[in-house]
Amino acid sequence: MTRDEGQSMRWAGSSSTPSLKGVNLVRTFGDGTARRAALHEVSIELFPGQIVQLMGPSGSGKSTLLAILSGLLEPDSGQVLADDDGVLRDVWQMTGKEREQYRRKHTGFIFQGYNLFPALTARQQLEIVLRWGEGAATGDARRRSDEMLDRLGLGKNKHKKPAQLSGGEKQRVAIGRALVKNPSFMFADEPTSALDWENGQKVIELLRDAAHQRGASVLCVSHDHRILPFVDVYYHLDDGHLERRALPVE
Ligand SMILES: Nc1ncnc2c1ncn2[C@@H]1O[C@H](COP(=O)(O)OP(=O)(O)OP(=O)(O)O)[C@@H](O)[C@H]1O
Ligand SMILES: [Mg+2]
Repeated sequence: MTRDEGQSMRWAGSSSTPSLKGVNLVRTFGDGTARRAALHEVSIELFPGQIVQLMGPSGSGKSTLLAILSGLLEPDSGQVLADDDGVLRDVWQMTGKEREQYRRKHTGFIFQGYNLFPALTARQQLEIVLRWGEGAATGDARRRSDEMLDRLGLGKNKHKKPAQLSGGEKQRVAIGRALVKNPSFMFADEPTSALDWENGQKVIELLRDAAHQRGASVLCVSHDHRILPFVDVYYHLDDGHLERRALPVE
């Protein structure tokens, strides 16, 4: 599918107001002479209904930026302003408890590692998000988890634990876990790195549908140029400096 076809079935809501803004974000690591800035005054805006790709060399700060925007890692300075039920709130001015609630309710995160619970089956990894995150009833959580696993081609693997799954299968369970609760913000850190292109494309289509059909804001770190035709905006991060780039013309 081309980018134009993707946009013809666009989510009908307004996308002129950002749903998430990172403003002048700075983050350093280390002490003394080993101190090094991972992000230099980075500003970024995400809009509802948009899928954004973030590229950049290893160590350029991509995972650091995702962690800050999603409320997992505190910046040294700068703001993260996020739409919380119609009000823009600074995620890093919230109390820890408020931020935890905000993250549970509004954000989905696909980690660069898979971060699955070793003792749970594929189905249970998804069910737990729905039961704990939104208090879904057992039957509802099971139905939605099974639907998502089927969409990801994992129907036959739903009773397996992470140790019994291949790398690509684990990756898809992690993706299902992030998507199953229909979050407003999706952060995906190299979601296709363990997948062949056929499965990688399925995943990108799911992320794009979350944006275009449901109005989520999706930020996806990926080195894969084949993803560019599926995204709306493309940023490049180099040594902590962020730059918006034009998408290649098809
Ligand atoms: N917890 C940490 N302690 C010290 N340095 C860190 C820490 N986390 C990240 N860094 C450093 O910050 C810089 C950015 O790291 P980050 O993980 O954001 O890069 P990345 O772009 O995601 O790289 P990759 O493509 O390899 O995943 C790197 O120089 C890294 O070594
Ligand atoms: Mg990374």
